[in-house]
Amino acid sequence: MNSFFRYNRSGELQFGPHNLAEVTSELRGPTFFYSSMILDHRLKVFATEVKKNLRFPPKIFFAMKANHNRQVLDHIRQQNIGVDVVSGGELRLALDLGFAPDQIIFSGVGKSIDDLQLAASRKIFQINIENFGELKRLCKIQNQLRTPSTFQTPLKIGLRLNLDIDAGSHPKITTGRKIDKFGLSPSDYLNCLDLLKNETSLVLGGLTIHLGSQILKFKSFKSAFALLKEKYVELFQLGFAPETLDVGGGLGIDYNGSNREDVLILKKWSAGLAGLNFFKGQVLIEPGRFLVARCGVLLAQVEYLKKNKEKEFLILNSGMNHLLRPALYDSFHEISQVSKKLNKKARKFEVVGPVCESSDTFGKGRLIVDPKEGDWVAIHDCGAYGSSMSSDYNLFSRADEVLV
Ligand SMILES: Cc1ncc(COP(=O)(O)O)c(C=O)c1O
Repeated sequence: MNSFFRYNRSGELQFGPHNLAEVTSELRGPTFFYSSMILDHRLKVFATEVKKNLRFPPKIFFAMKANHNRQVLDHIRQQNIGVDVVSGGELRLALDLGFAPDQIIFSGVGKSIDDLQLAASRKIFQINIENFGELKRLCKIQNQLRTPSTFQTPLKIGLRLNLDIDAGSHPKITTGRKIDKFGLSPSDYLNCLDLLKNETSLVLGGLTIHLGSQILKFKSFKSAFALLKEKYVELFQLGFAPETLDVGGGLGIDYNGSNREDVLILKKWSAGLAGLNFFKGQVLIEPGRFLVARCGVLLAQVEYLKKNKEKEFLILNSGMNHLLRPALYDSFHEISQVSKKLNKKARKFEVVGPVCESSDTFGKGRLIVDPKEGDWVAIHDCGAYGSSMSSDYNLFSRADEVLV
């Protein structure tokens, strides 16, 4: 079992410092429960480890797409971590919550005119450009917004490179191959440089990449960092002086394992960051999942038990409408009973949600002890891409969210 979880002698599930049996006694329905203590622990472990391997401390921008809960974001902001946003909605939320503009990076393949106008007028830290058309659009906006003061401080942009690297993650969350929609193709990149050479309202802040998500094979980062070095040298020869290298996010966690395995993963990945030490500017990192996945559980109740000749089902009152990852990516989440009899034998169940889709299945062959209607279960590691990907599908109520 994941190292943040254990059963006490009464068979009640502890999640870090929280007794989930006590927590659930106060809940009204399915709930994403976040632990601020575990979140802090992950933020600290991450920041400490990445610092060890880089010549200068990097700047961390949390990828808001992983979790846009206001309390979680407030907590992250208070630790002096910025945010990486991918839509006007996320940008507005970041500004509303008091993230300073210089704590915000704007990524994403489909930025609208309104989104770019907002980002440019608020002079955020960096806008990451994903295609030549986007750069032309931003240029036009910037020239319309231009006043003597904006003229003096051009807007910083990052050029997101598509390096045609396969990070070996799930195909639906791999973003760095040339067949993917993300990043600039080599010809778009050259067009961007041509435009930037003569443009005074925009400045090339740096280069940026993002290879995908839930990456556990680090060879891809090594190749990417070597290519970044080549591109950086080329840029210098062309007369540009980039101040940042943004390596994106993507660091995975071991959903089948524990926090201990994650720390080994982090150490291995961070060691590779030393490949960026040729660079005298600032390294930017955009982690999402690694920071928040472990701090959240989805708490749900057994609605029904159901049996056929083949198997037994545990039908929960929460499904793919709240946690989409298993249906979308066949991803694994451990499931534990919030209270269980410790000395009784477990049986195998298919744990499913109430949504009218066969893909609405959280796990097959899960060992459950003597379940009853109304019992609570905890679905582990739902702090990332849980609530933020949830939907109104079938019009079940949204899950509540609480950070303690
Ligand atoms: C541009 C960008 N940066 C950062 C991330 C965060 O990735 P992860 O949560 O895997 O760290 C993503 C997610 O796909 C992304 O698209």
